[in-house]
Amino acid sequence: MSGPAESADDASGDTCVVYDVGELVVGPSEDGEHPLEILEDAAFAAVDGEIVAVGSSEDVTREYPPENAETAIDADGRAVVPGFVDPHTHAVFAGDRSDEFEAKLRGKEYQEILAEGGGILRTVRAVREASDEELFENLTGHLETMLAHGTTTVEVKSGYGLETETELRQLEAIDRADATQPIDLVATFMGAHAVPEDRDVDDYVDDVVEEQLPAVAEQGVAEFCDVFCEEGVFDVDQSRRVLEAGLDHGLTPKVHAEEFVRLGGAGLAADLEAASADHLLHANADDVDALVEAGVVPVLLPGTAFGLGEDYADARAFLEAGAPVALATDFNPNCHSRSMEFVQTLGAVEMGMTPAEALLASTRNAALALGLEDGTGTLREGAPADAVVLEAPSFAHLAYRFDTTAVDAVLKAGEVVA
Ligand code: NIG
Ligand code: FE
Repeated sequence: MSGPAESADDASGDTCVVYDVGELVVGPSEDGEHPLEILEDAAFAAVDGEIVAVGSSEDVTREYPPENAETAIDADGRAVVPGFVDPHTHAVFAGDRSDEFEAKLRGKEYQEILAEGGGILRTVRAVREASDEELFENLTGHLETMLAHGTTTVEVKSGYGLETETELRQLEAIDRADATQPIDLVATFMGAHAVPEDRDVDDYVDDVVEEQLPAVAEQGVAEFCDVFCEEGVFDVDQSRRVLEAGLDHGLTPKVHAEEFVRLGGAGLAADLEAASADHLLHANADDVDALVEAGVVPVLLPGTAFGLGEDYADARAFLEAGAPVALATDFNPNCHSRSMEFVQTLGAVEMGMTPAEALLASTRNAALALGLEDGTGTLREGAPADAVVLEAPSFAHLAYRFDTTAVDAVLKAGEVVA
């Protein structure tokens, strides 16, 4: 199938067939009965990394015989699900904050550590000192772990530079990693992640709006603009200023909202029709309604609540209101979790989600939080062939297992990558 212009190492013309799948999760169900549409004794085929056929194993393999395919996987009755989408991470960083974890175990508050110049500000010092190579190597190391746990698309934020040069260096590390390893990366500019030490907050917002954002937009290295709308960080007006300036530069808003207190970030996200509002531990019923009405995806981060020993977000309130609830790792030095499998376990055990709801939240709904409308997070015709073959007969093993991994093989664009 390779066209004449393709080089020998360009495998994009290859055919891929995954067959004899006991349980094929194709995406959200359209009947509204169960969150997922699941086919039994199924298969899918992909050409050029894009799914071209989904159906019974017999039909698909008749049209696309495995013996003729460059990539053929006999799932041998096991489950196959869409590759996971992790829509909220801070995965480009340097340094180590495990001692802060110990301090938190002894009762110290996250915000107390930040107010003393630790937390985010400590990572900022480490990132400013790190070389480009170190940032890139750290990021790609984490991505390798994510891939092994079935994640095929990841959002990564800047926000540990807090000045133009280092914010750009983080975004460039993301761009370079996107081009050199299998996971698709989506970059978010988050200059408004914290207020640098000894800076007045409004002065710093001026810097983000007048210096950082124009430079980021000029380089074309980010798609979204995010802000930590939180007591003691950026208030609602300051957050609005940053996000509106981002919109002027073509960056879609996202908001870290209602994490430690209810400040109004969810209302702001609704007002600006942000792609997502994230955290939401302290969101109330009005926030739920406002987000649903505005079509903002709630991104819940149970790993953060788990690591901090906080109460979890009310996933059920969002689900009952009909919101497309998404889950993410929030991987960062305060939340050292790279596994969307563990996130699904927490969604089920700690937030009362069914394994099916947790899987939908980790695939199609997570893709919605990134504005991905190309079928990412599903295994339907036309979607990218990003899939996870489990070493289990049912997708429920993703939430059920919490020891190592239920992932056997990972496909990105129809190629085996892990
Ligand atoms: O989403 N809450 C703000 N930002 C991150 C934490 C970043 C850090 O502590 O380094 C979060 O949890
Ligand atoms: Fe975050």
